[in-house]
Amino acid sequence: MTANRGYIAPTRRPGALGVHSVDHFALTVPDLAIAESFYSAFGLDVRREADRLGLYTAGNPHCWASIIEGPRKQLHHISFGAFADDMPRFAERLRALGVDRIDAPGGFDSNGIWFRDPDGALREIRAAEKTSLNGKGAFLPPVSTDPGVRGAAARATATHPRPLRFSHMLSFVGNAATAIEFYSNTVGLKLADAAGSDIAFMHAIHGSDHHILAFGSGGGPGLHHCSWDMGGIEQIGLAAKNMADHGHRAGWGLGRHVLGSNYFHYVRDPWGSYAEYTADIDYIPHTQDWQAGSWGDEDALYLWGPELPADFIVNHEAA
Ligand SMILES: [Fe+2]
Repeated sequence: MTANRGYIAPTRRPGALGVHSVDHFALTVPDLAIAESFYSAFGLDVRREADRLGLYTAGNPHCWASIIEGPRKQLHHISFGAFADDMPRFAERLRALGVDRIDAPGGFDSNGIWFRDPDGALREIRAAEKTSLNGKGAFLPPVSTDPGVRGAAARATATHPRPLRFSHMLSFVGNAATAIEFYSNTVGLKLADAAGSDIAFMHAIHGSDHHILAFGSGGGPGLHHCSWDMGGIEQIGLAAKNMADHGHRAGWGLGRHVLGSNYFHYVRDPWGSYAEYTADIDYIPHTQDWQAGSWGDEDALYLWGPELPADFIVNHEAA
């Protein structure tokens, strides 16, 4: 028996420099108690940790997001995870590109490389375990019962499924084309698909979901949504019903995206952005040179689903 029995090496594209994951993100909000209530109802494991909240998924020790108190809701930073032995190459690449390395923000000390993107938004590359998947995520299709057998659970016995993991996020940016170029050159994300000139989806080169970070032109930086994998459509439906029972009825879903192919239900959060339940997003293996598509506006949002809420794409963080 070896000490590392059971260890599965993360997938990695040999020789290529790129981050492998969105390690975590951080938000400021005016009232932590409101965030704690919302994300707990959403099904996340919300932990009070000193001056902040940590967002976890049940049974997983990884902290996917930190929430700190601030004057208003704002995307504080995104931290990308990279293989430790790539860190010197990232430092050299940013130096060669003329991207200034800055100090870690207060309360977020780390040995990572901190910098700002073209909109001035705070970003980090840190050595971290690969938290993006090494293969396509599990998908549980609805189960059909045999003739003569009831299929659905009664309300009283229905479960409340919880998110399995963080999947991706969509960040508003000043200009999507500028963001595609910057994040390709610096952190090594690759374009998976773009729709029109204002929406783009980026994947990681070492094997990841169709997108781990997406951009929407929105007049500047901001969080549009964070997305959490539920593993199935039934699980999305039950979780969305549970949120409605908690008073969080506003949102968009059930539907299916064209770009990424994932099923979705978005729940509006207390600050006008969204938390998405998702399932069955496309996967881009580390061995594949995915051909990015250039799509029209009609494919930017959905294949099917309810009509888009009028205020779905509003960057409330833009000044
Ligand atoms: Fe999404």
